Amino acid sequence: MHMDFKKQIQQGIPLELPLVKSYPVDANRAPRRKNILTSEEKQLAIRNALRYFPQKWHEVLAAEFANELNTFGRIYMYRFKPDYKIYARPLEEYPAKSKQAAAIMLMIHNNLDNTVAQHPEELITYGGNGAVFQNWAQYLLTMQYLSMMTDEQTLHMYSGHPMGLFPSSKNAPRVVVTNGMMIPNYSKPNDWEKYNALGVTQYGQMTAGSFMYIGPQGIVHGTTITVMNAFRKILPPGETPAGKIFLTAGLGGMSGAQPKAGNIAGCITICAEVNPKAAKKRFDQSWVDILIEDLDSLVVRVKLAKEKKEVVSIAYIGNVVDIWERFEKENIFIHLGSDQTSLHIPWTGGYYPVGLSFEESNRLISEEPEKFKEKVQESLRRHATAINNHTAKGTYFFDYGNAFLLEACRAGADIMDENKTDFKYPSYVQDILGPMCFDYGFGPFRWVCTSGKPEDLEKTDQIAMDVLENIIQNAPEEIKLQMQDNIIWIRDAKKNKLVVGSQARILYADAEGRSKIAKAFNKAIAGGEIGPVVIGRDHHDVSGTDSPYRETSNIYDGSKYTADMAMHNVIGDSFRGATWVSIHNGGGVGWGEVINGGFGMLLDGSPEADVRLKSMLFYDVNNGIARRSWARNEEALFAIKREMERTPSLKVTIPNLVDETILKNLF
Ligand SMILES: NC(=O)c1ccc[n+]([C@@H]2O[C@H](COP(=O)([O-])OP(=O)(O)OC[C@H]3O[C@@H](n4cnc5c(N)ncnc54)[C@H](O)[C@@H]3O)[C@@H](O)[C@H]2O)c1
Repeated sequence: MHMDFKKQIQQGIPLELPLVKSYPVDANRAPRRKNILTSEEKQLAIRNALRYFPQKWHEVLAAEFANELNTFGRIYMYRFKPDYKIYARPLEEYPAKSKQAAAIMLMIHNNLDNTVAQHPEELITYGGNGAVFQNWAQYLLTMQYLSMMTDEQTLHMYSGHPMGLFPSSKNAPRVVVTNGMMIPNYSKPNDWEKYNALGVTQYGQMTAGSFMYIGPQGIVHGTTITVMNAFRKILPPGETPAGKIFLTAGLGGMSGAQPKAGNIAGCITICAEVNPKAAKKRFDQSWVDILIEDLDSLVVRVKLAKEKKEVVSIAYIGNVVDIWERFEKENIFIHLGSDQTSLHIPWTGGYYPVGLSFEESNRLISEEPEKFKEKVQESLRRHATAINNHTAKGTYFFDYGNAFLLEACRAGADIMDENKTDFKYPSYVQDILGPMCFDYGFGPFRWVCTSGKPEDLEKTDQIAMDVLENIIQNAPEEIKLQMQDNIIWIRDAKKNKLVVGSQARILYADAEGRSKIAKAFNKAIAGGEIGPVVIGRDHHDVSGTDSPYRETSNIYDGSKYTADMAMHNVIGDSFRGATWVSIHNGGGVGWGEVINGGFGMLLDGSPEADVRLKSMLFYDVNNGIARRSWARNEEALFAIKREMERTPSLKVTIPNLVDETILKNLF
């Protein structure tokens, strides 16, 4: 019997057992997970899974779930995936008593949309393991709870599992999410696998488990800012990146944004990619301009591009080490160098060694893993030597948060600084994003137009641009360039065609920018110019994330191994008006490596929304600036002092700086 969308949502777990479904042929299946449970633990996993269903189905489902567990290492409950199409529908299409709850449903649907999510059947949005839910029962129950909740209840979710609706108040968040939170002594790789397989925890990545994913435009904007600011760092004032070379590697998930970012920054981008399919995909999507398959042609084409000062991006189908070495021989000067191969997983295909064909490497990975490991390390040593030769001539090299320096160091490459504790080269956050963006409060503000109308997105782009153009008039010199970059980004956003799934936009902005843009949106909603808007951010930001090798890598007072900032952020946002909040163990750089939090807020044009956005966005940004200034970061000290002048009720503890000579002979 056919049941309409709203009724299906409202019914939660169906009354009749749905038929078994065959796996869609064109779906991208999640990797098989480790078979880690003992027989007894497997029984526990099945017992846990059956908690969601009436006893009459247990016999059938027990066998089915045991099969899923043995085959995939997880129980996804494929049979319970609903038949309706999952995508961000216009807000009013969701059955709900609370508009805020409807907005959360919309955001969950966007994360699970077949055209947006990486492995939609397994409820994984991105990053291979970034889960929204552990299984389809959790999805069904969550949507049901959201459809019945009022504005005086809060849904508490434990790693995808909806524990239930609890009475709260209009000012409380509608949903509180935690993902992967472990007792620290039980937060090791095998623990996560085990407890995830038991169905009691999950890896929420960043925007997957916090319902805030908007496709690849976030990465494009972040990469553009990084490339622009890196050039700014090395070029004399007034000189543009035209005709200058940016050499890097990787045209995969995130790395694929590099050529597009290079084009927006206005340089010559050369990006090596060993996998011809990955390179072709980016070429077909127009994310890279030219494909070149041999080094001789590459050299000729690059020399021409330099001569003509072209803005062009070139994908070289081959190994990046070959380019570094060949350009040295040819005396081609590289201005900017980086690398985005997946060195966080070096032995399973994240990094392909020079001198081996792509096919031969793949054979070694499965048939001779030890030999492959040796080849990777040998290649990393060569890679680092070639980079060192270029940097000796003046190339600026930075690590892109992909563990290049870490793995090169483990391979015995010459990559350590003279002090023997630091690497020779900085990471992109230490040198670029940290001091130039995060410390001033600039971060990945984003929004989603819940009407689903492109016209609304266009209007919000215009509103945001007007607000920034207004702010820049009186902005201090220290942040003028950042503001200018963001104005250019939003001006060209539509032209760059970045929307995938919901009508969403990302725009780096500081506390003042975020707050004024959100206020202007709320006014436009109240005036009927646009429909309601969800605002949020990702976690690559000033305050929400404690991650010692990424977001907080430019914190030098020892506190980068603590996670107080992220915890305060989520708690602080939750009582200042967020519509939902989330906090995760793990994200981006891996489970156990980071604590990151996020929020979402519905702007519905009401005066209450005005109060909430002002209070919450102010704290959401300034919390991190305060912590960064306490760590003695110069730019953050500037930013927080400026904020205290503007906001008399803000009183932040300011560090006293020590004369270094006092410390010199103490120990
Ligand atoms: N973009 C960002 O903002 C950002 C931020 C932090 C970390 N990272 C890191 O960047 C890395 C890449 O992420 P991704 O999602 O693109 O991964 P991915 O695995 O999808 O892409 C990496 C690509 O590099 C290619 N490759 C591997 N070795 C190569 C070699 N020697 N020469 C040329 N090509 C080679 C692979 O074929 C693959 O397509 C990850 O480690 C990620 O954590 C990116």
